[in-house]
Amino acid sequence: MNAPLDSRLDRFLDLEPELEDFRTAILAGLSRPRKSTPAKFFYDAEGSRLFERICELPEYYPTRTECRILRDQAAEIGADLPSGATVLEFGSGSAEKIGLLLEALDRPRAYMPLDISRDHLLASADAFAADHPELEVIAICADFTEPLNLDGIAPEGPRIGFFPGSTIGNLEEAEAARFLEGAARTLGPGGHFVIGVDLVKDPMVLEAAYDDAQGVTAAFNLNLLARINRELDGDFDLEAFRHVAIWNPELWRIEMHLMSLREQTVHVADQPFHFRVGETIHTENSHKYTVDGFARMAACAGFETRRCLTDPDNLFSVHVLKVV
Ligand code: AVJ
Repeated sequence: MNAPLDSRLDRFLDLEPELEDFRTAILAGLSRPRKSTPAKFFYDAEGSRLFERICELPEYYPTRTECRILRDQAAEIGADLPSGATVLEFGSGSAEKIGLLLEALDRPRAYMPLDISRDHLLASADAFAADHPELEVIAICADFTEPLNLDGIAPEGPRIGFFPGSTIGNLEEAEAARFLEGAARTLGPGGHFVIGVDLVKDPMVLEAAYDDAQGVTAAFNLNLLARINRELDGDFDLEAFRHVAIWNPELWRIEMHLMSLREQTVHVADQPFHFRVGETIHTENSHKYTVDGFARMAACAGFETRRCLTDPDNLFSVHVLKVV
């Protein structure tokens, strides 16, 4: 498929990924004995706006720390990466981060964002193309959590995958390992992967990053209930739930929950859901790794670690991997 007429994209290809629908996922999640909802549904228009505010918060160190690593250690990152490469971004969005990676590269050939959300992909890829007229931009609407055969779609030559933000932390460890195996297949033998991974640290620092003083993360979490009310005819009382962010020391992850402040019955799409006092909906996991632990997982998935960059305070890591 060609790019829409008024777009600056060189090419747009819709692989028509299957979408998990919001209604089915929410009703199933609320029906479980331990209620939970997939984190990907946070990002409606308001949720995306709130997430951008999270990235600016003093307590939320990942975004600014990763950008600083990409900027200050560009030479080290670029040293292992081939020239003339096509950069495949797994999920599109951070104009600043992709700009920093491209700065670190020698004569990049093309930028290929992969995203499951067609509208988000078109908007962000089009804005990117307007800013980088010298680069070929090929947007692919696809589910990047599954391996993709890009032969005949990606330009010939080396491929570099880019997955910033520690988004991999949303996956359970077994899912993360599977994702890395799939990425290795998508990138192919000799392909490189630049991936941002948040590190294990003082639980107080972690909990503050996910429960900020201004309450932006609380608003982000509670916005899911507002979205359910609006889109699925729900009657959640947002005052009757409280945002909770806790470090799970066994599973090495921050968990976000919404805790019911009273015993109550909520309705969604005409179905009743009962809550005990203190019962929670588990809304997100954000797994943290050690540098060595992540490198071991990457090795099992078929990558060798070429380099690992961290900031001076060891808050965050950027791994440069190569498919063996
Ligand atoms: C976008 C998944 C990387 O886990 O830190 C931020 C999402 N949730 N604050 C993260 C998030 C609450 C973020 N990721």
